Amino acid sequence: MATGLLQRDISLQRLNTFGLPARAARLAAIETPEQLIALMALSEWRTWPRFILGGGSNLVLTGDFNGLVLHVRIPGRQLIAEDAEAWYVLAGAGENWHNFVIWTLDSGWPGLENLALIPGTVGAAPIQNIGAYGLEMAERFQQLEAVDLDTGESVVFDRAACAFGYRDSRFKGEAAGRYLVTNVTFRLPKCWQPLTRYADVARELEAREISQPTARQIAEAVIAVRSHKLPDPARIGNAGSFFKNPVVDAATFAQLAERYLDIPRYPQLDGTLKLAAGWLIERCGWKGRSLGAAGVYEQQALVLVNRGGARGEEVLRLAQAIQASVRAEFGVELEVEPVVL
Ligand code: EPU
Repeated sequence: MATGLLQRDISLQRLNTFGLPARAARLAAIETPEQLIALMALSEWRTWPRFILGGGSNLVLTGDFNGLVLHVRIPGRQLIAEDAEAWYVLAGAGENWHNFVIWTLDSGWPGLENLALIPGTVGAAPIQNIGAYGLEMAERFQQLEAVDLDTGESVVFDRAACAFGYRDSRFKGEAAGRYLVTNVTFRLPKCWQPLTRYADVARELEAREISQPTARQIAEAVIAVRSHKLPDPARIGNAGSFFKNPVVDAATFAQLAERYLDIPRYPQLDGTLKLAAGWLIERCGWKGRSLGAAGVYEQQALVLVNRGGARGEEVLRLAQAIQASVRAEFGVELEVEPVVL
């Protein structure tokens, strides 16, 4: 019975990597699409506000949730096709992202190595189009399958239909909350090319005296860089980068560059420039500082951390103070990256 899936008054503290306290009135662990369909048949379904939870690694909980949390736990991973150009690998939305990446590498299908050690699940990866060290998930994406929570239909989205952008997709915008991703298929090209232009990774490989790295070696370098710069959520609560890197037009950038000669910039194809939010925040003096139990990580100012016992409101207060500083100093708006509930 679908009602058997429902748990009541559940703590979400261990289900979000920030470790923020909050309770859900109801929670259902979804292990198969059929379980979801059964839940949707309940007469109360339409009356419950709902929230889709994956690994909880891109989430700021600001209070209790008086609705139904759908905790996606759908397992499975397999090679579903292979042609002259690529391997096509499917994974259940509930699979741990990093374990999935390592499994593809162990299986001899390179292509996701730059995205090693990103926390969270496979199903969450397309929602914010995870990216790191010169690669975005969208570049390896083939399609996803999702259940439309309004109609119960299963829908397939190809890359164009997902409208991927920088840490963005249609599932964060117009279709937010409507679709529950059940599985994702990746296309891993056989003509593999190492992506090592990102300075941190290049430096790490050089230190290891590796000039022609294998995918495995790139994953190891990425893991080393991430472990050094980013806090392990198992030990220090956090949600990765707390803000997106802001994008400004050329005229705005020219004014900034006059005042700040060393300001990092990443020119985009459309003539705009992406700035490094971590640099802006550090220049405002926030690196390593705290407000209450919420803090700015010592090694990477773009990451806010839970110093122990923080509440979501405290994290947001710190975020607002940082936004105000960056606005006052640089005239630049920082956009919060994780989902705030
Ligand atoms: N920087 C500083 N001070 C800091 C942090 C960064 O000056 O405290 C400077 C760095 O020296 C560098 C620039 O800012 O010149 C960029 O820093 P970094 O290479 O660490 O990357 P990032 O732009 O801060 C982004 C992603 C990360 C991803 C890394 C590597 C976003 C919002 N963040 O961070 O993604 O791992 O690049 O590709 O785009 C995440 O999304 O959760 C995440 C961790």
